[in-house]
Amino acid sequence: MTIRVGVVGAGGRMGRSICAAVGADPALELVAAVDPGAVGADASGLKISGELKALADAGAEVVVDFTVAAASRVTVPWLAMHGMHAVVGTTGLSDADVDTFRAAFSGSNCFMTSNFAISAVLMMRFAELASPYFETAEIVELHHDGKADAPSGTAITTAKRMAAASGDWAPDRTQHEVLPGARGGVGPAGIRIHAVRLRGVQAHQEVIFGTAGQSLTIRQDSYDNSSYIPGILLACKRVGSVPGLTVGLDKYMDL
Ligand SMILES: NC(=O)c1ccc[n+]([C@@H]2O[C@H](COP(=O)([O-])OP(=O)(O)OC[C@H]3O[C@@H](n4cnc5c(N)ncnc54)[C@H](O)[C@@H]3O)[C@@H](O)[C@H]2O)c1
Repeated sequence: MTIRVGVVGAGGRMGRSICAAVGADPALELVAAVDPGAVGADASGLKISGELKALADAGAEVVVDFTVAAASRVTVPWLAMHGMHAVVGTTGLSDADVDTFRAAFSGSNCFMTSNFAISAVLMMRFAELASPYFETAEIVELHHDGKADAPSGTAITTAKRMAAASGDWAPDRTQHEVLPGARGGVGPAGIRIHAVRLRGVQAHQEVIFGTAGQSLTIRQDSYDNSSYIPGILLACKRVGSVPGLTVGLDKYMDL
């Protein structure tokens, strides 16, 4: 039995790749593609619809959402209301949105993560493991200059997990920030996050730890959108069997 999958945001950069990957996976079947910005266009053999109703009409069991936060705030509760499982990759959603989604899913399940790249999931886990052994750490994330939000959801999640893994971070001793912002944004536990925006790069992150006489750098690189596909396909296959809302691909990787 294949899992019937719908894709919302099917006309976007990620959506197009997801439709192709779902169509090529023998365990999954692409049954609906929705995107009001690309109505009528081809998505791996299906015509893109502008209406969420197309998902219900096609009997989608799992729906993947890669759009914009404002659209997800409408789509995801709609999926819960219609008993479909949701796999949400859209970024820019707040903690309050996550709470709303958690409350909405009782009859079906929802999975969300700010980063579907398996190497990024491992990077965050390694950063968590390293945290208790260092007093100072900073995060440098690098993305293409078309990215709307800064810092990235991955950088914020990494800092949250590092803050939870150690309560022993040294305060910043900078006395005068000559250029405002030079020390980056202040994340959880005072961990500094620097967001670099460059044409030509995709999605990269370094977590740099320091203590007396030694440092550790953990670096992760996503070179193109194909880096997210294995994680998205894994989530499509697991979401139906893990009740309620799950946040973070590490939960499905049993890390
Ligand atoms: N979690 C991850 O690992 C990960 C990885 C890559 C991208 N993203 C996120 O995925 C999202 C999409 O990225 P992208 O590069 O494909 O962007 P994109 O701009 O190429 O595509 C977004 C698509 O969403 C569509 N859309 C807008 N409103 C819609 C609505 N109401 N209903 C249905 N479709 C709607 C647009 O028409 C567009 O085709 C962004 O939020 C991005 O940050 C997440």
